[in-house]
Amino acid sequence: MNITQAEITFVVELAKEARRRAYAPYSNYFVGAALRTTTGKFFTGVNIENAAYPSTICAERTAIFSAVAQGEREFDLIAVVTANGGFPCGGCRQVMAEFNLDMTVVIADEDGKIHQTMTVRELLPGAFTPSFLQKNH
Ligand code: THU
Repeated sequence: MNITQAEITFVVELAKEARRRAYAPYSNYFVGAALRTTTGKFFTGVNIENAAYPSTICAERTAIFSAVAQGEREFDLIAVVTANGGFPCGGCRQVMAEFNLDMTVVIADEDGKIHQTMTVRELLPGAFTPSFLQKNH
């Protein structure tokens, strides 16, 4: 998948902008995500924390679930923006793997500095994927 620098800059910018809407009063760790569909639509997400801490949802999952709820299932690019270039958690990697192991994941910080660009396959080697649930796997 050939993704240009301009496309990366655009999706990081969307994630940065979304991050301003993060609801993280407990950790104060604000996360924004921006997801691109293969048809060129964009969905953003933020982390949404809860007084019952485990009910918190991550920014990446908010973006993916929001897109799926709108009927989208094919994604090729996601950017995640945090204060310091934090990586997606294991649960979010698993949710990304459900939809596309070849999706590009861009990890950036609040200044727009890119810390890492890698695929979901690289982020989650040996992923458990939907194909394991098929009879003739
Ligand atoms: N968080 C995300 O939104 N995405 C990740 O991949 C890692 C963690 C959020 C969850 C929680 O609101 C805060 O960051 C601290 O863990």
